[in-house]
Amino acid sequence: MVEKEVEKNIEALLEERREFEAPEEFAANANANEASIYDDAAADPEAFWASQAERLDWFEPWDTVLEQDPPFHKWFTGGKLNASHNCLDRHLDSNGDRVAYHWVGEPGETKDVTYKDLHEEVCRLANSLKDLGIAKGDRVAIYMPMIPELPAAMLACARIGAPHSVVFGGFSAESLRDRINDAAAKVLITADGSYRKGNVVPLKANADEALQDTPSVEKVVVVARTGEDVSMTEGRDLVYSEVVEAASPDCPAEPMDAEDMLYILYTSGTTGKPKGIVHTTGGYLTGVSSTHNLIFDIKPDTDVYWCAADIGWVTGHSYIVYGPLANGCTSVLYEGAPDHPDKDRWWSIVEQYGVTILYTAPTAIRSCMKWGTDFPAKHDLSSLRLLGSVGEPINPEAWIWYQEFIGAGKAPVVDTWWQTETGQICISPLPGITTLKPGSATKAFPGVFADVVDEAGEAVGRGGGGYLVLRKPVPAMFRTIFGDEKRYVETYFEKFGNDTYFPGDGAKLDDDGYFWLLGRVDDVMNIAGHRISTYEVESALVDHKSVAEAAVVGRVDPKEGETIVAFVTPKEDKEGDDALMEELREHVAKVIGKLARPHSIVFTEDLPKTRSGKIMRRLLRDVATGQELGDVSTLQNAPILEEIKAKAESQQGDDE
Ligand code: PRX
Repeated sequence: MVEKEVEKNIEALLEERREFEAPEEFAANANANEASIYDDAAADPEAFWASQAERLDWFEPWDTVLEQDPPFHKWFTGGKLNASHNCLDRHLDSNGDRVAYHWVGEPGETKDVTYKDLHEEVCRLANSLKDLGIAKGDRVAIYMPMIPELPAAMLACARIGAPHSVVFGGFSAESLRDRINDAAAKVLITADGSYRKGNVVPLKANADEALQDTPSVEKVVVVARTGEDVSMTEGRDLVYSEVVEAASPDCPAEPMDAEDMLYILYTSGTTGKPKGIVHTTGGYLTGVSSTHNLIFDIKPDTDVYWCAADIGWVTGHSYIVYGPLANGCTSVLYEGAPDHPDKDRWWSIVEQYGVTILYTAPTAIRSCMKWGTDFPAKHDLSSLRLLGSVGEPINPEAWIWYQEFIGAGKAPVVDTWWQTETGQICISPLPGITTLKPGSATKAFPGVFADVVDEAGEAVGRGGGGYLVLRKPVPAMFRTIFGDEKRYVETYFEKFGNDTYFPGDGAKLDDDGYFWLLGRVDDVMNIAGHRISTYEVESALVDHKSVAEAAVVGRVDPKEGETIVAFVTPKEDKEGDDALMEELREHVAKVIGKLARPHSIVFTEDLPKTRSGKIMRRLLRDVATGQELGDVSTLQNAPILEEIKAKAESQQGDDE
């Protein structure tokens, strides 16, 4: 059932009715400018994906484009290639001196890394990893800031066939530990620290805490980013620069089977244990490079592309590292926060490098809106010709603001829907073809079979709402959950059967067949474009010594995005006061990471429960979003709800 508040969001979205056709000049030069691409791909999707795979370098051609045994699928079987070779070596002859990354450190230093530079660094590091005992198939964990050594580490792993598992630098020691252990990583590559809003994030100290309980890790390679003193464990910890300098720059890329694992990336599910999403090589590279080329209209000779996400998330994997490098384009890589030292930091970078394409998330756009137009107005942003959005539904106001004040009213905005699991963008405009509607991700990418169905799995048709599904796999789609095939089948295919992938999102189709994404329909929240499950935050809260019970819901506001609201029952002798609230927020930050800190905490003597003792989160969500309460007849303790409601309302008043 699609939630009530989500229905309300769509009402707000649908009030915006303006449409924007592709600007003529843009359309004339676009990489995708024939609408027939949709029909051709629909008529023969395998031929379409094969034509996209041909843009890559294969050591050996594939025998079969797609082999299916639903819900399992394999792409380009029999083919051999290497992702690092495709991202680096094949560009060297013609474009070795082209900048791969204009890197900008938060404190202000800059460095241009060419394809040649990156290739050499990757080869050296790959040899070092071999020396440290890493062989094809061994997992390497990476916990690093946004510095050039991060993509180099990923590509070094890919070069020798060692799947990487990148853990976002904002995650806590405990989160890092769990991910290292699930993947049984043999080596960890990290840094002494990273810069964020002028402060140093102590990555090595966090890593040391995690490493107390990670028996699989044999060696740790540490990049000196901040130069601060960190403890180095004799025999285990090595200095990155020393290891790399000592290694040979000659390292042939390992021919990998198209279906060999490229990486694992963890994402939140509805239970406490994060899911290790497994991506393989040939299909993934085909999916990310083709979407990057056609949706972002990449002209590698002239474009300066900037995806302002963090590489620790899938957006960074696919659209900062693998897609852009496979397409040989020049990117910006920025280490820090958008408001450091001031709120025009991004715009000064756009001006400095003449950025032509910017890809970011609605949460960032909404922050910029709040900060005001003076900040972008201080800079010449006329180089921008295309803007992208990802991670959560973008409200039409933010869409229009983005186009107007960042894109000078002319740059098309591509709202791209996808997930860690799909690996590649699945629903998005093609900016030279698609008429844009602010707030809608528009249409399925060519060769993608998206639909909206009801509870019974029947298509709802135009004008209807329900669940988003994909009726065929896309090449970059994940193959399984690491070490847990059962969970793979149950989570994504139990609902509608093995042929129909269920991503967990609600959606509506308008009368033109455009997709309007409505957010998650499970217990997963989308906080600033990042997935966090209510269960994870509840577990972290209950883990605190003063907490007896906790329930967590997401408060969705079409303009503000989603925030975490926690309802907490303190232990009998504990007081639910401001001090405890702050302590609990910090505790969640310590257990999961800052991104999971509840925005508000309502203390209550009891939580609304059914007679069988199940917490009624649905009612708490009504309370959090200020909606009229739903059916309370099954509650064993209905009066508590009114109390909670009154408390929540008075707290919201305090917030404002
Ligand atoms: O709910 C959808 C939302 O983000 C979820 C995927 O999260 P994650 O795997 O962390 O990947 C985020 C970046 C690709 C989806 O299930 N989502 C992502 N993009 C959009 C979106 N919701 C609405 N519109 C989007 N463009």
